[in-house]
Amino acid sequence: MSHVVPKNISQENEDFLPFTTACIDEETIESAVACLRSGWVATGPRVQQFEKDLSHYLECPHSVAVNSATSGLHLALVACGIGKGDEVITTPLTFVSTVNSIIHTGATPVLVDVEDNTYNIDVSKIEAAITPRTKAIMPVHFTGLSVDLDPLYDIAKKYNLRVIEDAAHAIGSSYKGRKIGSFGDIQVYSFHPCKNMTTAEGGAISVHDEETAKKMRVLRFHGIDKDAWDRYSKDGDQNLNVIAPGYKYNMSDLQASIGIPQLKKLDEMNVKRQKLVDRYQEAFKGWDEITPPQNVPYDHFNAFHIYAILVNPEAAGRTRDELITELKNYNIGCGLHYPAVHLFPYYQETYNFKRGDFPRAETISDRIMSLPLFPQMSDGQQNRVISALKQIFNKS
Ligand SMILES: Cc1ncc(COP(=O)(O)O)c(C=O)c1O
Repeated sequence: MSHVVPKNISQENEDFLPFTTACIDEETIESAVACLRSGWVATGPRVQQFEKDLSHYLECPHSVAVNSATSGLHLALVACGIGKGDEVITTPLTFVSTVNSIIHTGATPVLVDVEDNTYNIDVSKIEAAITPRTKAIMPVHFTGLSVDLDPLYDIAKKYNLRVIEDAAHAIGSSYKGRKIGSFGDIQVYSFHPCKNMTTAEGGAISVHDEETAKKMRVLRFHGIDKDAWDRYSKDGDQNLNVIAPGYKYNMSDLQASIGIPQLKKLDEMNVKRQKLVDRYQEAFKGWDEITPPQNVPYDHFNAFHIYAILVNPEAAGRTRDELITELKNYNIGCGLHYPAVHLFPYYQETYNFKRGDFPRAETISDRIMSLPLFPQMSDGQQNRVISALKQIFNKS
């Protein structure tokens, strides 16, 4: 696969190495150009094709393409009938859009602390957070590592709750030999340019029950019972009905034209990520200064959207923020995914959250950082990261 690598990271020298960059190959470019030349770039046949391909890839009956994971999460909640007075359980260790999507429905986000080793919601603590108002659980497969889904779905079944998996990081991940999306209730993926595959911003939902899928299709496009292609194509019918006050969450054909070839290469790209992760893991074995991704007690495949380490300030002799700044001096960019949501002022002021409420998420939030990882990253580029860390920590 030949990739387009931005000039500033094409050399293995001292040019700035970003923590990620989209992996756009010639086939992806040609597909987007063909869509542009076709004159039809709005929602249409390419979105239909992309949804079909996604359903096939995910082994899931219904896929609904949208313009971001954020809108997908909101759409899923609304389609499940969640709104004012309801509660939705999720994790504090996520991007704010997970929690915001709950707030936008009028429901209240209820946070449950994470596990020390997976950084995912601690499933053993979920039951204690359930009240008569609880309507759904929104677990996040953080960094691409699957949440322990079997016990989570047992709880959902027991209390008759919907499960909307925030799989923004997890396309291509699996849990106990089953692909995320191939089982369960609802999963939402992000195709933001820094994710494992892209549609240049965009997202999708996999959903296992037809009724909910139908609601999502209507709600994603103004509540109209037909999309633009159904109205303007030769076989289309120009008349329309509005059956709900819907949203403008549809994916365009131009986005889908990027997604179709990207999806074909997803597994190949994820294998490349895995190889790079293995090299990092080998290099950092036995280091006290940082904690690399840890062992997980259940069978899984992590698509590794992010390679997150924790900085142990005592052993490292510096904080996470200081280490990120030092690596910048080596021309290496890092990410911060993610500060715990309940530490931001809005959520503290609105929901009375405070430091101390979720101690594990806070420790991780204070220490976490993401090292560069993208499929087309060369061994030489990765060696620069490893060498810089060795120099910083005086390792041979
Ligand atoms: C866990 C998580 N959920 C949701 C999102 C939202 O994705 P999008 O940018 O496609 O809306 C992100 C984005 O980074 C995320 O990390």
